[in-house]
Amino acid sequence: MPTTLFDLAGRVAVVTGASRGIGAATAQLLAAQGAHVVLASRKAADLEKVREEIAAAGGKASVIAAHAGVSADLRRLVAETVKTQGRLDILVNNAATNPHFGHIADTPMEMVDKTVQVNLRGCFELSGLAARQMKAHGGGAIVNIASVNGLKPGTGQGIYSITKAAVINMTQAFAKECAAWKVRVNAVLPGLTETRFASALTQNEAILKPALKQIPLGRVAQPAEIAPAVLFLASDAASYVTGTTLVVDGGLIGCGGL
Ligand SMILES: NC(=O)c1ccc[n+]([C@@H]2O[C@H](COP(=O)([O-])OP(=O)(O)OC[C@H]3O[C@@H](n4cnc5c(N)ncnc54)[C@H](OP(=O)(O)O)[C@@H]3O)[C@@H](O)[C@H]2O)c1
Repeated sequence: MPTTLFDLAGRVAVVTGASRGIGAATAQLLAAQGAHVVLASRKAADLEKVREEIAAAGGKASVIAAHAGVSADLRRLVAETVKTQGRLDILVNNAATNPHFGHIADTPMEMVDKTVQVNLRGCFELSGLAARQMKAHGGGAIVNIASVNGLKPGTGQGIYSITKAAVINMTQAFAKECAAWKVRVNAVLPGLTETRFASALTQNEAILKPALKQIPLGRVAQPAEIAPAVLFLASDAASYVTGTTLVVDGGLIGCGGL
């Protein structure tokens, strides 16, 4: 008999940054496993397309436009989710920004502020809001999408890498303090993945070629190859897993690269 450990029927999941890339692939997989997925990002029209794809595949999803760096939006995202779906079981903190690609010493301070606001403050605030709702319904799971750059900073991606390192520590801090609420908190650390976000790297041969040499599997990931790691950590299959990081990078970090 196939395992039911990955079944999410009856669960409600919020996925931020769900309109494309890793967030969309994750939302599609969680919905395929039976969850009702609340799709969040800034642009409702883009989210609507993902919702239609999920519905066409027989899944359940709804759309709430919310900026990850705006407190009022995050409060509304959680409040509306609970009002319309009755509960919140899974949060995937996936939305992030990386506005500065260049020497760390040249980073404009407004870009430092924006990166911290979205990648760190937003993730922190939404985790707290969601954890309280999960506690009220007997527990839940939070999965933060960090990055291998949170372990080793990417060249020209200084402040982005710093926020991702902070997300790893934040994962452990929330895991420690929310365990008594039966809320598990873990992080997935993707390596280079073919999305719009990474296109400055994947579309530039001069950067891509040496990067691929460091990846034992010799290629970049597809978003659908990151999503199953999120499903594992969000599901009952990971019932004894909290405060950990799951690296999905084609062997880059484990084999000594970066
Ligand atoms: N691609 C990689 O190589 C890679 C590697 C390691 C880690 N990651 C991480 O993976 C996650 C997803 O990235 P991705 O590569 O899938 O990027 P992507 O395809 O560009 O998607 C980014 C998503 O985030 C949303 N978003 C951006 N800024 C937002 C904001 N301020 N508020 C709310 N939503 C916002 C975007 O929608 P809107 O623009 O409509 O808001 C979009 O849905 C990020 O946390 C990133 O750091 C990616």
